[in-house]
Order: sequence, then structure tokens, then C-alpha cells
Amino acid sequence: LQRFPLVEVRGIPLMNLIAENWSSVWDFCPDPSDLLISTYPKAGTTWTQEIVDLLLNNGDAEICRRAPTSERIPFLEIFSPPPIPSGLELIKKMKPPRFIKTHLPIQLVPEGFWEKKCKVIYVARNAKDNLVSYYHFDRMNQTQPEPGPWEEYIQKFIKGKLAWGSWYDHVKGYWREREKRNILYLFYEDMKEDPRREIVRIMQYLDLSLPDDIIDKIVELTSFNVMKDNPMANYTFIPKIVFDQSISAFMRKGEVGDWTNYFTPAQSQMFDEDYTRQMADVDIPFRTSI
Ligand code: A3P
Repeated sequence: LQRFPLVEVRGIPLMNLIAENWSSVWDFCPDPSDLLISTYPKAGTTWTQEIVDLLLNNGDAEICRRAPTSERIPFLEIFSPPPIPSGLELIKKMKPPRFIKTHLPIQLVPEGFWEKKCKVIYVARNAKDNLVSYYHFDRMNQTQPEPGPWEEYIQKFIKGKLAWGSWYDHVKGYWREREKRNILYLFYEDMKEDPRREIVRIMQYLDLSLPDDIIDKIVELTSFNVMKDNPMANYTFIPKIVFDQSISAFMRKGEVGDWTNYFTPAQSQMFDEDYTRQMADVDIPFRTSI
């Protein structure tokens, strides 16, 4: 399998997929009932998908036995080689309300989502843990560019040269618009600290009201240890030629603060100095430990 080089689309490095299909992504017209989950890759997308889908389906555990990608939660901007349908083709075949996933930075999200006032859930994770998780993902995901040496990977992250662009611009873009566009802005660290509290926040945002025992069940079904052993949540259904989990598991560690096992003190200092510069214009309460 080939590791796709990145191409710039409206100034953002994205996977080199079928470029002429981009206009069909931007022209996509959602239904007002559609729900979008957006993240920078590795911020806790799959975890949040599992939570939301269980909330929408009254904690029905059968949901967990269906693959999170494909027809259950299509990936808006993923194009597959025929005959595998692209995310957009899958979405168009589904009946609203649809639950759609994207990694697009806010300026590349189809305007229709804002025009129709769709609900949007954004999940953000602290930069250092997000970087570590992405590094291991790029090692095992055989379609993304090779991560290269760790030291160089930090530089690529800082410069926004990874697929889906700059983490800094991504988290800031959604943060600035969260009130105006009614985006539920979640943090991975908050979800780790008190999963139940955050699940209830999501439930309320979705205008749902589930009984306590169902919420308890959702907390359990979406815990790291249960999802890790669920073949439909741990992506072992994706062939090894695409996700080589012998290199690194998709459900790798699921912790806050794993970055301390990777950054040397000098790398951490350099990263923090740059972080202060890149995040000077915004005050987002990220936590690198809980
Ligand atoms: P690590 O690589 O740090 O383990 P995404 O779904 O956006 O690709 O994010 C994947 C990251 O979320 C991985 O992080 C994965 O382990 C973590 N994750 C997935 N499910 C989780 C859960 N239930 N609890 C905590 N972390 C989870």
C-alpha cells in the first residue's frame, strides 16, 4: 500500500485523495437535524463518537458492535478508491438525522452546516498528548506520510505540516466561533477526569434526557478498557495493510500526560516557548495533566 503524500487544499495539508471531489464536499447541503463531530486527529474522536451514538440510541449496546466508520458514522472528507463508497456517497444514502465525522479545520467545513444551524461537537486535546498520539498513529497508519524521527515530528507538528494542518489553528478556529455557532467544545482531559459529567453535558446539548442507569451503562461501554477490547471500536476490523496495529494499537494508552514519556526536558522547553507564541492571542484552558 502506498503512503499518500500530502497536498495543500486551500492552504491546508490534506491527504492526497481525489482532489476534484473537494467541491462536492464544500457544496454538501446537510439537513438541520444532522450532527457533526469535529476534531484534530487523535483528540478523542472515536471515544466521542461512541458516546454520542449510544446517547442517540438509548444506550443500546448493539450500536457498539457496529463499525464506527462506514455507514454508522461516515467520515465527511474521506474518499475511497471505487468500489468502496466515499464518505460523502455514504452520507447521501443515509436518512437524516445523520451523525457525521470530520477533521476539517473550521474554515473548510461546508457552509451548509452553519447555514442550517446544525449541532457541532468539537473535541480538543492538549497539544503534547495529541502530538504523541498522532506520532504513533502515523507510524501504524500506512496511508499517511511516514512520521520520520521523533525530533523531526515535533517540528512538523509545530509548523502545521501534518495531515489536516496546524493543531494550533484548528483548536483556535473552533474556540473563537463556539458561542456564535453554538458549538459544544469539549476537552479530552475533562472526559478523562469525569466521563459521566461530560457524557451528561453532551446529552443536554443534544436535548436528550436519559435515566441514570442508562447513563451509567454508557459510561461503562465507553471506558478505555471496554472500547479497547471491542473489535468494532478498536479498528481491528480495518485490514493490517491499512492500520498495522502490530506497530501501535489504535487504542494505544488513552491517558493524560503520556507526553512526559517522550519529550526530553529540552524538547519540552522548546515546545512550550513556541506554544506560548502560537497561543498568545487566545486563552484556551488546556491541561497537560489532571
Ligand atoms: P492514545 O494514542 O493517546 O492512546 P481519535 O479517535 O481521535 O483517533 O483518538 C485516538 C486517541 O483517543 C487514542 O489516544 C486512543 O487511545 C484514545 N481513546 C479512544 N477511546 C478512548 C477512551 N474510551 N478513553 C480514553 N481514551 C480513548
